[in-house]
Amino acid sequence: MEVIVLAAGKGTRMNSRLPKVLQPLAGRPLLAHVLDTARRLGASRICVVYGHGGEVVRERLDAPDLAWALQEPQLGTGHAVQQALPQLADDGHALVLYGDVPLIGEATLGRLVAAAGSRRLALLTVELDDPTGYGRIIRDAAGRVQRIVEQKDASEDERRVREVNTGILVAPTARLRDWLSRLSNDNAQGEYYLTDIIAMAVAEDVEVAAEQPDRVSETLGVNDKRQLAELERIHQRDIAARLMAAGVTLLDPARIDVRGTLSCGRDVEIDVNCLFEGSVELADGVRVGANCVVKNARLGAGTRLAPFSHVEDTVTGEACVIGPYARTRPGTELADDVHLGNFVEVKNSKVASHSKANHLAYVGDADVGERVNIGAGTITCNYDGANKHRTIIGDDVFVGSDTQLVAPVTIGDGTTIGAGSTIVRDTPQNKLTLSRAKQVTIDNWKRPVKKPKT
Ligand code: UD1
Ligand code: MG
Repeated sequence: MEVIVLAAGKGTRMNSRLPKVLQPLAGRPLLAHVLDTARRLGASRICVVYGHGGEVVRERLDAPDLAWALQEPQLGTGHAVQQALPQLADDGHALVLYGDVPLIGEATLGRLVAAAGSRRLALLTVELDDPTGYGRIIRDAAGRVQRIVEQKDASEDERRVREVNTGILVAPTARLRDWLSRLSNDNAQGEYYLTDIIAMAVAEDVEVAAEQPDRVSETLGVNDKRQLAELERIHQRDIAARLMAAGVTLLDPARIDVRGTLSCGRDVEIDVNCLFEGSVELADGVRVGANCVVKNARLGAGTRLAPFSHVEDTVTGEACVIGPYARTRPGTELADDVHLGNFVEVKNSKVASHSKANHLAYVGDADVGERVNIGAGTITCNYDGANKHRTIIGDDVFVGSDTQLVAPVTIGDGTTIGAGSTIVRDTPQNKLTLSRAKQVTIDNWKRPVKKPKT
């Protein structure tokens, strides 16, 4: 089976510079969702029909398993499919999909392909309460599909039909080639309609099967930002349902967004308004507080993200506690039982087990040992304006509050650093090091008083 994906439409109603099929759903282009589905179906070839201005589509999504066909000008869906045919083999079936119908499911398409068998034409149709705008499926008295009539060409009676064409179909490629070569554009829109092949098939005694999708939402198309947002919600609800079916606790399935893949162990709990991007793995018992953003991360068993934490390109061990209001940036690796509290930022650093930075700290380009306590207001001065340098902190170090560690610098095991220090040289093990102006008290000092106004 080979797949043709129509993606030449301009998408005027999106009111956007970005071509319609590149508009994101769950963080990925609409077309990418359709291509994924085609691949999962095991298509032997996928040909994307793109239009004027669609070079960016091709640049963005090109892959070794894709063929591309330019449709210029755009003379209708039949004409669009025709552009792909030179790239398809004659001996199989072609499945026609749409770059702006992103939620079409593998199971539905599997049934459609099965319904086509080796000789039939199979159409995906749905019954709608309001069929306005769609092509209507016209059946004979025995219920056999005879043809499709477009809204603009339909009679009053035909418009009352509620079974509509989704546009998705499977046809024997050789027959398709022949039918399309005989299309005419003598209709209300002056277009070459793909839908006209149904009557041609019937005339040649090719059986036409009609299948219905598992869910109508699979066949919804995107024409404007409102529909895009509607499909986004449907898709996110589906993801939420899958997570819950797998045992994840979602405090509100309507308030989670997954833009990528989220895999969860047992007894994972996710509070409201969390966003997961890229590839995220949450091990058993991970709890994510409200309003967290987690991107490309692997959180170890029992780790807890307190609300409003922002975690990116980060790996944690077990039982870590992060946040509230903590930020871990790319290259953060935390071992077991590490605590990062409010307004702590960590970047490109390794923190060994049982170490803590509970308040207001910046740890960048650092290696932090075990059982280290980093006091409030501590920062690693990793950047000299030109280059980044590393800070090495040994095991069992206690860094007093409001300390600057000017890298490159090594803090020996067991060091205690007095509060308010600026540390520019390596410190010896197991000693107190501090840099601090001596505290003085001035006797007989008088506070200034305001001069009386004259
Ligand atoms: C089409 C069907 C209609 C069906 C409806 C479902 C035809 C003639 N009509 O109508 O029966 O109910 O879809 O949504 O097929 N496209 C191209 N090149 C073209 C024209 C269209 O690539 O020259 C692509 C568009 O980008 C779009 C899709 O084909 O993704 C459908 O085109 P559109 O104009 O929206 O078709 P409809 O008139 O809605
Ligand atoms: Mg049209």
